[in-house]
Amino acid sequence: MTKRIEDLKVIGNKHLNNDFFILELTCDTKFPILAPGQFAQVRVDGSPETFLRRPISIHDVDYERNTLKLLIQIAGKGTQTLSELLPGDNLNIIYPLGNSFSMPAENDNILLAGGGCGIAPLLFLGKYLKSNGFVPDIILGFRNKERIIEFEDYLQIGNVFITTEDGSMGEKGYVTNHSIFSTQNYDRICCCGPDSMMKAIGEYCRRKDIVCEVSLENLMACGIGACLCCVVNTTGGNLCTCIDGPVFNVNDLKW
Ligand SMILES: Cc1cc2nc3c(=O)[nH]c(=O)nc-3n(C[C@H](O)[C@H](O)[C@H](O)COP(=O)(O)OP(=O)(O)OC[C@H]3O[C@@H](n4cnc5c(N)ncnc54)[C@H](O)[C@@H]3O)c2cc1C
Ligand code: FES
Repeated sequence: MTKRIEDLKVIGNKHLNNDFFILELTCDTKFPILAPGQFAQVRVDGSPETFLRRPISIHDVDYERNTLKLLIQIAGKGTQTLSELLPGDNLNIIYPLGNSFSMPAENDNILLAGGGCGIAPLLFLGKYLKSNGFVPDIILGFRNKERIIEFEDYLQIGNVFITTEDGSMGEKGYVTNHSIFSTQNYDRICCCGPDSMMKAIGEYCRRKDIVCEVSLENLMACGIGACLCCVVNTTGGNLCTCIDGPVFNVNDLKW
């Protein structure tokens, strides 16, 4: 797919809580068809310490309105600077980058599992699955009730299960502790979040012979396969997360 470098226009910056915000962006030209799991390399202007672009997943796209959304967690200087963007500002991105989640088989029972900023690509994926006739289960993990975001949006695409670390909503604990893993039978699990969560879910899927795709959030610099800083060890050798991923079948990963 052709890569584009574009100045997008910020049309909204909605702060969901102290950690997360959503940038809504538009473009003078029509957005290309994007695939769930793909990401953009976002330039952080006015911040000399963050000269490297930051990788951010496609969170949502509305082709009719020609808008694109990025859900961003403030992790450091770069994302902090992005959180201060205002409507009318420009945001320069390189996109679409990386591969995507694969299409499930007909009648697959699907679970989407996300934690932290890993929930970002799952909304776009869920909408894509819904438009193709699937009704996935979705499990999202948060620290506490106050930090739950976009619950209503995920409800539009499937059955939503929540875990909170303090038990203030949903089941107490981490995503991987939730009872659906012992009560439901899935054919496919798509996962994005902290490595420990993806590894635990990957291990569960291997044991149960469930297809499992994980979207890795390795540190990146160039985002286009040039610097090799995002290399991951796979059964096919060392691959770049930015061009061969970020989505991998867990069976291909040497974790
Ligand atoms: C393919 C991909 C898609 C991503 N999608 C999203 C997204 O949709 N929304 C979102 O909020 N974040 C996403 N991330 C993570 C995001 O890129 C980082 O949080 C961001 O680059 C941090 O930049 P910073 O300047 O704010 O923080 P920095 O000052 O660079 O780092 C602050 C802290 O965050 C840690 N960190 C930096 N990059 C990562 C990373 N990739 N994974 C885990 N920890 C990191 C650093 O080690 C450090 O401890 C994605 C990462 C990848 C690789
Ligand atoms: S980030 Fe440079 S090769 Fe992947």
